[in-house]
Amino acid sequence: GCPTETAVRGTLVWFSDDPFLTSSEHALEYIEDGLLIVRDGRIHAIGPYTELADSLATGTTVVHHRDKLVLPGFVDPHVHYVQTRIIGAYGNQLLDWLQNHVYPEEVRFADPAYARRHASLFCDQILRNGTTTALVNCATFPDSVDALFEETTRRGMRVAAGKVLMDRNARQDLLDPDPQQAYEESAALIRRWHGVGRSLYAITPRFAVACTDEMLRLAGKLWAESPGTLVQTHLAENTDEIEEVRRLFPDREDYVDVYEHHGLLGRGAVFAHAVHLDERQWRRLAATGSGVAHCPTSNLFLGSGLFSVREAKRHRRPVRTGLGTDVGAGTGLSLPQTMNEAYKVGQLGGHPMDGTKLFHLATLGGAEAMGLDGRVGSLAPGHEADFVVLDPTATRLLSARTAESESVDDVLFALALLGDDRAVAATYVEGRLAHERSPCPDPKPE
Ligand code: GUN
Ligand code: ZN
Repeated sequence: GCPTETAVRGTLVWFSDDPFLTSSEHALEYIEDGLLIVRDGRIHAIGPYTELADSLATGTTVVHHRDKLVLPGFVDPHVHYVQTRIIGAYGNQLLDWLQNHVYPEEVRFADPAYARRHASLFCDQILRNGTTTALVNCATFPDSVDALFEETTRRGMRVAAGKVLMDRNARQDLLDPDPQQAYEESAALIRRWHGVGRSLYAITPRFAVACTDEMLRLAGKLWAESPGTLVQTHLAENTDEIEEVRRLFPDREDYVDVYEHHGLLGRGAVFAHAVHLDERQWRRLAATGSGVAHCPTSNLFLGSGLFSVREAKRHRRPVRTGLGTDVGAGTGLSLPQTMNEAYKVGQLGGHPMDGTKLFHLATLGGAEAMGLDGRVGSLAPGHEADFVVLDPTATRLLSARTAESESVDDVLFALALLGDDRAVAATYVEGRLAHERSPCPDPKPE
């Protein structure tokens, strides 16, 4: 029989190149009155409505998102679903914040019912913010991974996640009692979830401070044995943390070398933060095809420091870079709000980013960092049909700001700086509506 076909009409916006390496004008693609045709969960065709309308299969309904932008769904390459409830916890910097707020909360995910409740909340919240793909840290308990994948596979989402590996320097009831057992639990989760629906497994050593050499060695071994899986961890976030890593791994050259020594660099490995790196470490990340997640709301919240996109994207050795929310240290699940903070951090580093660059980081950049470019992060035919519909008139302020915009880049910039979940009119996963905003989030007074 005929494959199922659906279509949306609106202004289509996506990237055919990297605006940090070419120019924004060259990298940004858009079709003012466009049509996007979905077949079997993939983008089948895109083009001007007037040219493509004739090629629609009979019976295909076209949803018209008039005066709205249709973009690839946001990609969040670094977030902790198990920290949803402790977002915005007042106080200290990284190492104290982990002990005082994070670890006590993550212990609660030993309870599968608690995990299921928060997995469901998390998925609802990312979809209402337009995020369709994420790389997610769970807790040490395998049940906390099951809870998340049960939700994401039910919703058909392209999500990568994994059980946190940690066998030292935290409260006993959160630690893996034995690295070999942690390895085996991870291997069992890979067999249970990796490649099931759109689920991908991510091997997840928490960070060097919480892992023994043996734990990192087994993480690297598991990655080598498990084709298509990802790796996620934290890197050079905070200066006290870096000092601790130097003390714990005196034989290693630097923080990146701790991970590289155990085979944890490469395509599909994502390093969150990367705030304090020297040129040698950037070179190793670039040479191995590793990705980094810039987490500006988190870095500002914890006072960690200022990530340099300019440094990450050096032309001679660009590193695949996405934009992570890092909730619960991050202060929101919204990629537009994260772009807003990324812009300001860029300003402090003398590197202002235009709307094109910011949205690249939040879509294709994140996909590249995760090694998922070619599958998500773009509207080009063949990609998976995950997209977000943004409303430049969502609020009265946005409306006033964009009314006389003369370029798509300026509309994108306004959405990055003023947008939040109100600007997300709809979110589609595999071509199906996964979230729809109530019609009028900011009504005009009568
Ligand atoms: N480093 C190790 N664990 C964490 C975490 O949960 N959040 C952040 N921001 N950094 C970390
Ligand atoms: Zn994190």
